[in-house]
Amino acid sequence: MVEVTLIAAVSADGFISCGRGIPWDLPEDKKHFRAYAEKKWLLLGRVTHSEMSGWFRDHQPLVMTRDAGCKVTPGQCVASVEEALHLAESADQPELLVCGGSQIYAEAMPFADKLVITHVDRILGAGLPFPKIHRQSWEPVSRIIHGTDALHDISFEIITWRRVAALPGAGWTVGEAA
Ligand SMILES: NC(=O)c1ccc[n+]([C@@H]2O[C@H](COP(=O)([O-])OP(=O)(O)OC[C@H]3O[C@@H](n4cnc5c(N)ncnc54)[C@H](OP(=O)(O)O)[C@@H]3O)[C@@H](O)[C@H]2O)c1
Repeated sequence: MVEVTLIAAVSADGFISCGRGIPWDLPEDKKHFRAYAEKKWLLLGRVTHSEMSGWFRDHQPLVMTRDAGCKVTPGQCVASVEEALHLAESADQPELLVCGGSQIYAEAMPFADKLVITHVDRILGAGLPFPKIHRQSWEPVSRIIHGTDALHDISFEIITWRRVAALPGAGWTVGEAA
């Protein structure tokens, strides 16, 4: 079985972007993302993939698009999360890392076993949301706290959440729980 992990940096009110790009600059979080993603199979939306072009070295990017003629190098295009999972499973991958953006997180959330969320202490007010999750279904298994310093003008916490049940309950955004 392929484990599905969603990795994202989310504002305190539940957004990942104001519209385009990442709305903060957190070098230690970028370092954490690079280390976690190393050598993994990644699932990205076509928009996020185009923003990250040139970044992929030892990764296998699977790009989700409705464009049947899509071609990417390195990697390949897929039409659904199920297709990405099938490819990763056929290649004996232990994990598929879902790297966004907002549309792809929403598609992949029902399949997620694990969430690696950077909870950023900033209110955006509006933007592209991270999907709501149900608190009863997730438990925190690790936590890294990072305060402000010369390189980081915003504090953040990286929390790994593991799914413990599939119980629908009162919805809350990741941001609201931080
Ligand atoms: N803070 C964070 O951690 C974080 C992480 C990642 C991204 N981001 C930000 O999020 C923004 C992009 O998010 P986004 O939601 O606009 O775009 P996205 O999720 O990266 O990509 C959207 C594209 O994915 C394809 N797609 C979506 N649903 C699909 C489906 N059901 N079946 C097949 N293809 C589907 C479509 O491609 P086609 O149009 O080609 O059909 C769609 O235009 C970026 O600006 C990025 O900087 C933030």
